[in-house]
Amino acid sequence: MNFDTRVLNASEPQNITAAAGLLRQGDVVAIPTETVYGLAANALDEGAVAKIFEVKGRPSDNPLIVHIAEVDALKDLTSRLPDTVIELARRFWPGPLTMVLPSSEKVPSLTRAGLDSVGIRLPAHPVARQLIAAAGVPLAAPSANLSGKPSPTSAAHCLEDLAGRVPMIIDGGPCDVGVESTVVSLTDGTPRILRPGAVTPEQIEAAVGSVVIDPVVYAKPDPDAPVASPGVKHTHYAPKAKVVVLRGDWENCKRFLAEQASEGVWALVFEEELENCPLNALSLGPVKSEETQALRLFSLLRELDEKGARMVYARAPRQEGMGLAVYNRLIRAAGFRQLTIES
Ligand code: TXA
Ligand code: MG
Repeated sequence: MNFDTRVLNASEPQNITAAAGLLRQGDVVAIPTETVYGLAANALDEGAVAKIFEVKGRPSDNPLIVHIAEVDALKDLTSRLPDTVIELARRFWPGPLTMVLPSSEKVPSLTRAGLDSVGIRLPAHPVARQLIAAAGVPLAAPSANLSGKPSPTSAAHCLEDLAGRVPMIIDGGPCDVGVESTVVSLTDGTPRILRPGAVTPEQIEAAVGSVVIDPVVYAKPDPDAPVASPGVKHTHYAPKAKVVVLRGDWENCKRFLAEQASEGVWALVFEEELENCPLNALSLGPVKSEETQALRLFSLLRELDEKGARMVYARAPRQEGMGLAVYNRLIRAAGFRQLTIES
């Protein structure tokens, strides 16, 4: 890995052709999707997939999501299609929903980290779909950050992490969603949410009647228990600073924060709280706009690193709708450290 990384604009058709050429020959390219940028390679080529793990420094027990450009591609990649899949695909594809399904033999074991299931997503970003179609193969793509870092929501973030490690980054502008796709397992019975995202549990329930939210969404998994989604075991989204999620009403939190004021101590607060926050602070967005919070979160975590933050207190988002996705990423960035200020 010693590339002179090129960042190319997605609006030039020859750049799409160049990226597709690299993907076809088994190379890795960072690409835009509507959620976060992905580090893409041919999902069916074990050698290409091995490069993804190497470039990211990703543990080999963490399976990749396979991205397709047409619903039809599902047949080849799965061994069985539960009824709910068609309904969920009809409602939420193209879009930020990954379905974990029984895998066919065609998907290399490395892509799915040895599991007998495979995560599949049909992204909404037109550039992602153009690239999959131009490459002519499904693309395995985890988020295009180094393992453990916040996911990239712009080409500049990708370059920060991947300069010299990949030949090409396709710049499709800032992502629309800002947090990774909802991961829902459909391998047995009731759909089970393994990672919350922009497609909410409420929406899935309305579409197919029932849904279970896996306990890993809310809390640190027991290290000895088998987990449904291996990704949750690993450190995630961590900035250099120590992050603590702060609960309690704002008046109490404000008093607590005033006592913490010191060099390198920052707060992530809601827009409404910014003006009278007693610490250096950045805004997560309006308290009731989970969409804005999702859009900003990863970028804010990177910005805090740039500012030299060593300690960050972050206000806990609401756990409803898309707020659950923001909350889930934040407690992981905090290594599950949470503090409730009661008086
Ligand atoms: O929005 C997204 O999903 C982005 C963009 C690039 O599409 N991709 C992404 O990939 O976030 P990654 O690798 O960072 O996260 C994939 C998650 C992990 O938590 C992984 O454990 C889970 O999906 N996953 C993938 N395949 C799975 C499987 N067969 N069974 C259970 N979990 C799976
Ligand atoms: Mg990731």
